Amino acid sequence: MSKIVILTGAGISAESGIETFRAEDGLWAQHRVEDVATPEGFMRDPELVVNFYNARRAQAAEVSPNAAHKALAQLEAEYDGEVVVITQNVDDLHERGGTQTLYHMHGHLKGALCASCGHRWPAPMVMQAGDTCPSCKAPAARPDIVWFGEMPYDMERLFDHLAQADIFAAIGTSGNVYPAAGFVAEARSNGAHTIEFNLEESAVGNQFAEHRTGPASQTVRKWVDELLGK
Ligand code: OAD
Repeated sequence: MSKIVILTGAGISAESGIETFRAEDGLWAQHRVEDVATPEGFMRDPELVVNFYNARRAQAAEVSPNAAHKALAQLEAEYDGEVVVITQNVDDLHERGGTQTLYHMHGHLKGALCASCGHRWPAPMVMQAGDTCPSCKAPAARPDIVWFGEMPYDMERLFDHLAQADIFAAIGTSGNVYPAAGFVAEARSNGAHTIEFNLEESAVGNQFAEHRTGPASQTVRKWVDELLGK
């Protein structure tokens, strides 16, 4: 049975209307990473950070999965093999598109995490700085998002999946953030065929055996049709 491991990034959600991070007018042009995506930024100004993710959560609730998210769900449902999706995205468009086997390696907007005891619970639509943890009662609620300097989730399981991949595809990710940017090298060294889907070659583009250039809604749709023999 063959196995396909797929890494997605902000580019897969771009056509749903969520801005990417590193585009000229992207999120990191409008906000300083150090302020909104680090534990130090959260300690300095929790309100700024919580509001930043409140805005992201509100935006994610307004948009819908696009043809690329749906194609991946169809691939998982109909492929004669195993399909695993690993996303760096914190929106829930893969789940809403129908994907079942999914890892949110950078966390997700729907979760809250206690910075004091590590308890997790569903985030309200609007979090407040100083919200209390339902378990330990510390006023230490934070979004369940992996920030710079923190360890992404499920790394051991993800590397097991990468070791077993026959095909590794990266969709809509710029290859700037590790460890995700290192997945192509890992999968390739284990013998996987590697494919990059992007509008342009990413920072690790030279490590892929194959490139499919264009908007993910079209290129991913076509690839899935090929894999399913349609
Ligand atoms: P980036 O914003 O760095 O990159 C988005 C990529 O998607 C770029 O390479 C674009 O060329 C590509 N792209 C844009 N629109 C596309 C489309 N319609 N079809 C195909 N490709 C398209 O986003 P990520 O690589 O996801 O982490 O960023 C990785 C991490 O950096 C994020 O998870 C986030 C960020 O800082 C944290 O916040 C911890």
